[in-house]
Amino acid sequence: MMGKIVWVLLLVQAVLAIDGVSVDRLNIWPMPHSVSHGRENLFLSKDFELKTEGTKYNDGSGILKDGFSRLLDMVRVAHVADGNFSKIHTSLLLQGLHVVVLSADDQLQYGIDESYKLSVPASGKPGYAYLEAHTVYGALHGFQTFSQLCLFNFTTRVIEVPMVPWTVIDQPRFSFRGLLIDTSRHYLPLPVIKNVIDSMAYAKLNVLHWHIVDTQSFPLEIPSYPKLWDGAYSVSERYTFADAAEIVRQLCSKTRDQCIG
Ligand SMILES: *[C@@H]1O[C@H](CO)[C@@H](O)[C@H](O)[C@H]1NC(C)=O
Ligand SMILES: *[C@@H]1O[C@H](CO)[C@@H](O)[C@H](O)[C@H]1NC(C)=O
Repeated sequence: MMGKIVWVLLLVQAVLAIDGVSVDRLNIWPMPHSVSHGRENLFLSKDFELKTEGTKYNDGSGILKDGFSRLLDMVRVAHVADGNFSKIHTSLLLQGLHVVVLSADDQLQYGIDESYKLSVPASGKPGYAYLEAHTVYGALHGFQTFSQLCLFNFTTRVIEVPMVPWTVIDQPRFSFRGLLIDTSRHYLPLPVIKNVIDSMAYAKLNVLHWHIVDTQSFPLEIPSYPKLWDGAYSVSERYTFADAAEIVRQLCSKTRDQCIG
């Protein structure tokens, strides 16, 4: 009897696993304003690159370049793409992402245009995927969406973009998309907060509300009141002044999201 139950469970798991592989269920999160796709596959070339011809934005502080390198890290993190690229016909290789940003200005402010259009060509038309955005911040959202189209193909061992051609036209439905963390009632170590910030960028959120202290505990160093952080849960569950500055720095410069004090 026990044996039978185990078999049934294994079978259910196997069916779920096969279903999980199905690319028809690929999700872009959050759901774009408008999206359409085809039924063919493309593969990311080994030297998948950023092309910015025709863009008005000079990327003086590297926002676009850094965003693109995070995009590459994201799509390559799951598996090593050690497939034999010479087995893939060049008409199936995507050479890179061509990004055109229409505004030269990267001043970040509430209500800024975060829209973007992303298209991935059909197979047989080798070349570049195309991303157009009014501001560099819209382009960063386009990078997130592109990364969610990519998956690792276990047969070719190369990163694949299934269901091409893609056309995505998107903009956030709400200009304030926030998350609150409460480190007074539940201490979070610095690396955890950094992961939260990364995942906010994946989900295209743009405001972190860090509720650092409250009646329950006071984990923050205040130099002018040096005894205050004795109110932390323990001596190690505290943030130094530099820790707090590091989180603000990551929020502002790494994900380039909005900083609200
Ligand atoms: C890669 O594929 C090509 C073409 O099929 C073949 O000639 C070559 O030996 C392969 N290389 C490796 C390392 O398997
Ligand atoms: C992986 O690539 C092969 C060869 O192009 C293709 O036949 C197969 O459908 C791909 N697998 C997935 C899950 O897309």
